[in-house]
Amino acid sequence: MTDSPAQRAVDAAYEALQAEYVAANPKSAAAFAAAKDAGIAGGTNRASVFYAPFPLTFVDAQGATVETADGQKLTDLLGNFTAGLFGFSPAPVQAAVQNAMAHGHALGGGPNLYEAEAARKLTARFPSMEQIRFTMTGTEANTYAINTALAVTGRRKILVYDGAYHGAWIHGGRSAGPLDTPYEKITVPYGNADLIARTIEQNAGDLAAVILEPVMVNPTTYLKRVAPKAYLHRIREACTAAGCALIFDEVMTSRLAPGGAQALVGVTPDMTTIGKYFGGGLPFGAFGGSRAWMARHDPFHPQTINSGGTFNQNALSMAAAVAVLDELWSPEQCVAHNARGDALREAINQLGQQHGAPLQACGTGSLITLIWQKDPVIGEIGNETVAHELNISAHPAVRLLPALFWFYMVLRHDFLAGSPRLNYLTLPTALTEADYDRFLSALNDFLARNRKLLGLLAEEMV
Ligand SMILES: Cc1ncc(COP(=O)(O)O)c(C=O)c1O
Repeated sequence: MTDSPAQRAVDAAYEALQAEYVAANPKSAAAFAAAKDAGIAGGTNRASVFYAPFPLTFVDAQGATVETADGQKLTDLLGNFTAGLFGFSPAPVQAAVQNAMAHGHALGGGPNLYEAEAARKLTARFPSMEQIRFTMTGTEANTYAINTALAVTGRRKILVYDGAYHGAWIHGGRSAGPLDTPYEKITVPYGNADLIARTIEQNAGDLAAVILEPVMVNPTTYLKRVAPKAYLHRIREACTAAGCALIFDEVMTSRLAPGGAQALVGVTPDMTTIGKYFGGGLPFGAFGGSRAWMARHDPFHPQTINSGGTFNQNALSMAAAVAVLDELWSPEQCVAHNARGDALREAINQLGQQHGAPLQACGTGSLITLIWQKDPVIGEIGNETVAHELNISAHPAVRLLPALFWFYMVLRHDFLAGSPRLNYLTLPTALTEADYDRFLSALNDFLARNRKLLGLLAEEMV
């Protein structure tokens, strides 16, 4: 298969585009070399999103447009993986941050007036968070939530999906690495509620928490739809019976509905974590839950859990969060943006079909991933209730297609279409209707010009 006609065609196209990319971006190449030279390990501070041969360095960004070190302006469909949901430097966030900065943003390390306002607005949107705590990142939020469950239950194990991503040091199964926090993890495949419920039941005595994304976004926004209600209800019931915490990681998925994905499916977790965009581009994270699960975070509780974090409630992030909730992300704005994402996904899939291309635009609402394969990404599992499985093509050429598409979009159409590792379109609200139209015509061009190559691939995938 590695030497198939499709593979050869993909390899050749990839090499040609990569050479063009290198020639067009000498200043980004130099910035990467300088970062290495300066002593940044490997030249990157974020290996999880690094890409070869070197990443683009940005020098300016406004709205949905970023400017590279080499002076190219690109329309950004990625939005920093959701942290840039409102585009770059949105005016309400700028104003709020400047105001907080002008009035002593560290405020002596004590409480400030923004944090309660942010908390009130967030707990109103997410009723599962009766009580909330702020952190600086989503990783910390998940760490705090899991560790809270370990402390409250006195148990040792957590259950995660295989391939899950819950932050820099919390992965599930095949995606776990040597830097992972050494939790005792039970790993289950996504999709089969009966199997997961049985596993929870069998480990009831040891299991502190089940942590999952209510729509499995990571690693690749596989789903075309939200997991069926019955699926998550089944897991909810199993957690209640086992006395373990059900934690919904909504760092990404909270953007899918005003009350997060939990509101879409009507399932209430014990704890919820959020992050990314609520800081309007500044560092942000939060975890929260029912009073019962959060009680020991009260410093007056006899068994209080000590915790810390110099910047947890820093005034800049808190002021930005208030501005986001007041001015940039009303329930109406959230619903409209996700409907726009659904329409784009539909239009991409139609284009793919018109060209007979091996392309599946997956995801939910404003989260879209382009998967370069012919068959649906989701398959049903026999007769088991509410079960489905991931059905990802093993054709090796599929791995290079995201890079091919990404280079093409940068070089020919001035778009940042996710990353070369994954064409992840986590759409920012700053995109205009004209941007969406232009993107569809750019995609049309890619599919037309690469028809032969994609046709070969489609044939080999049969
Ligand atoms: C589902 C999910 N959880 C947690 C995180 C970690 O958030 P952060 O990068 O802010 O630590 C991410 C980041 O991509 C995420 O997608």
